[in-house]
Amino acid sequence: MSRSGAYRSRILHITSTDPLKYEYLEDGVLLVEDGKVADLGAAEQFERAGFALGQCQHEPDYLLVPGFIDTHVHSPQLDVIASYGEQLLEWLNKYTFPAEARYADETYAATSAVAFLNSLLEAGTTTALVFATSHHKATDVLFEAAREKNMRLIAGKVLMDQNATTELHDTAVGGIQDSEALINKWHGNGRLGYAITPRFAGTSSVEQLTLAGELHQKYPDTWIQSHISENLDEVRWVKEVHPHISDYLDAYERYGLVNDRAVFAHCIHLTASERKRFADLGARAAFCPSSNMFIGSGLFDLAQMKEDRIDVSLASDVGGGTSLSMLRTLADAYKVCQLKGYSLGPMEALALVTLGGAESLHIDQFVGNFEKGKEADFLMLNPNATNVMSRRVGFSDSVEDEFFVMMTLGDERNIAATYVAGEKVSI
Ligand code: GUN
Ligand code: ZN
Repeated sequence: MSRSGAYRSRILHITSTDPLKYEYLEDGVLLVEDGKVADLGAAEQFERAGFALGQCQHEPDYLLVPGFIDTHVHSPQLDVIASYGEQLLEWLNKYTFPAEARYADETYAATSAVAFLNSLLEAGTTTALVFATSHHKATDVLFEAAREKNMRLIAGKVLMDQNATTELHDTAVGGIQDSEALINKWHGNGRLGYAITPRFAGTSSVEQLTLAGELHQKYPDTWIQSHISENLDEVRWVKEVHPHISDYLDAYERYGLVNDRAVFAHCIHLTASERKRFADLGARAAFCPSSNMFIGSGLFDLAQMKEDRIDVSLASDVGGGTSLSMLRTLADAYKVCQLKGYSLGPMEALALVTLGGAESLHIDQFVGNFEKGKEADFLMLNPNATNVMSRRVGFSDSVEDEFFVMMTLGDERNIAATYVAGEKVSI
């Protein structure tokens, strides 16, 4: 497969998140060489410069956008997506932990990892921050599968040494040793990165949280990922498990796990004091609207987080979330924001799942838009994927409105093609 090509299409990407700016080329050309963006501009300009437009793959009906970025998703949880009737703690015990226990089987873990990555790519997600399971080998095979696909993936072995099912428990020391071995093997290997992954404070002992903080200090360019303040019973329970903490954030903060390389999913029930410290420490919040509604956790307040200067990206949180599609996740984000009195604009939405996500993860020098030299992860979005979308888009008078229609009505059906580092993915 070729990692070079010329694509002539309608092209849309975010050029700045603050202030929010985007570029739209009604008839644009994206030139890809050796997996990277070599050039971008109006077709007319290319032609005037002597470029033969005939060599382009011409897709005038599609909208070419950067690959989507999902900043919080669980690879083993495709097995429990759409599980009925429970809120967080019961949902974990009844569905999630038993499903994750199956990943002790290496063969199952390896085939499931490929299925998971294919599902991400089918949804147009080319980069993700991923929780594997607490198994060393299952995490290893996930990295191996991502390496094979040349995806920019950040992932980590889940650390959990207490309060789950014993089959999933690691030990404080063993979990850290496994994490360090995975860091040495995969962090910075090709496009891969490692995230130190305490599941949440309730399932890690003080010793494990302490060692996790020390591990990050030893490898400061790794990421940290965890959950925080998703559900009110969870918040109460974490304080029972760790009676020495002043609030939920303190359970991470006191062990050096809150900084600008840490991404915390949910952040729904953070107090004003927690939000202030969260912002001051530069930590990142992953907004998981589909999961928060499906598990009945609560409504994330995007406007409040912005006011508090907290960095926010968007995440599916599958299998709490009900779709890997970032278009569908944006539809849910829009609705959650509406319920909180804020209208999420379509270009702000596109930023959340492209350049904004890349900035949250400190990988915007590599991905997020079509700046020259960045890795050519991109999608061809088909606005005519269904009769309803096609009809509605027929009345669109702007690309903003067209993207709004796709994020409100769209899903995997809109992803006509996914390209990873310049190569078209076959799923
Ligand atoms: N909190 C701890 N583990 C999980 C998980 O797997 N999913 C969600 N949504 N929340 C969690
Ligand atoms: Zn999660």
